[in-house]
Amino acid sequence: MKDLILDVDTGVDDALALLFAVRHPELRLRAVTCVAGNAGLGQVVANTLKVLDAAGAPDVPVSAGAERPLIEPARDAGHIHGADGLADLGLPVSARRPAGVPAVDLLRDTILGAPEPVVVVGLAPLTNLALLLRACPEVAGNIERLVLMGGSASIGNATPVAEFNVWHDPEAAAIVMDAGVPVTMYGLDVFYHVSVDAPTCAELLGHDEPGSRLAGLLLRHQIALCGADPRVNGDGLLGDAGAVCAVADPGGLTTERLPVSVELAPGRSRGQTLVDRRVLPGEDAAHGLAGTANGVDVALAVDALRYRKLFLDTLLSGPPA
Ligand code: BDR
Ligand code: CA
Repeated sequence: MKDLILDVDTGVDDALALLFAVRHPELRLRAVTCVAGNAGLGQVVANTLKVLDAAGAPDVPVSAGAERPLIEPARDAGHIHGADGLADLGLPVSARRPAGVPAVDLLRDTILGAPEPVVVVGLAPLTNLALLLRACPEVAGNIERLVLMGGSASIGNATPVAEFNVWHDPEAAAIVMDAGVPVTMYGLDVFYHVSVDAPTCAELLGHDEPGSRLAGLLLRHQIALCGADPRVNGDGLLGDAGAVCAVADPGGLTTERLPVSVELAPGRSRGQTLVDRRVLPGEDAAHGLAGTANGVDVALAVDALRYRKLFLDTLLSGPPA
């Protein structure tokens, strides 16, 4: 059994990730923290509570965190996730209430109070996690690994070269990647490969059980969004949920330990993750201009069908007993 904390900006694919995390028999979801990203903070919290209802989750503590990045204003992704951040599905308002403590406090107490080191999964801009690691560096000793959906060694989405979660708060991403905690970067290089096809989406939609049906509705939104792109084959992307599949089944991912720095200069490349895959030392190092010396486990390939099956089997297993 693995103890898990999710930091989310729910978000269509964060919702898929929550559904999966609640239902996987080997994952114990200890806490969920929310941050502004795909939607404003209040909406993210409301969405998260609604999804936990549909998942049939036990009473997991949920906290609100940062309502904006460290430096810049928040910039939502309503054009991707819908005006409410959750595909405008009109889900019922939850009776659950957020915990009365800020996200950084919930993260600190949950991590330090866990009997074994926990896995922290960042599926959103990294503002909460950067604030945590700066304010309470002692948590590092009880974090097994940070698994981050973010960044890319190739293309971007927020800009041609920057992935949304890193682009939204690049300073936070740089702090987290350089904090000395083991990091897996589940970036766009693998994110765009893990998907569910239309017949399987229809199968999920056919279920009466609320979690499976919600997954079907969310995946239908994903298919409408980018299913026409030949690179996605008419499928619905699992997105953030793929990063949680990688926690449950790390063997489906191929990673390489590489230095990753975040471009912080203003301009179109701000938020790009510079993944150093060079074979020989470059002129930058030779002339004292080298970047970070961190070592991030960058996901470069994924067994997409293995994660598709894992996601479906887990969702269809129903809510936890
Ligand atoms: C990431 O940004 C958001 O749109 C998704 O929820 C995911 O976390 C992809 O770049
Ligand atoms: Ca997200």
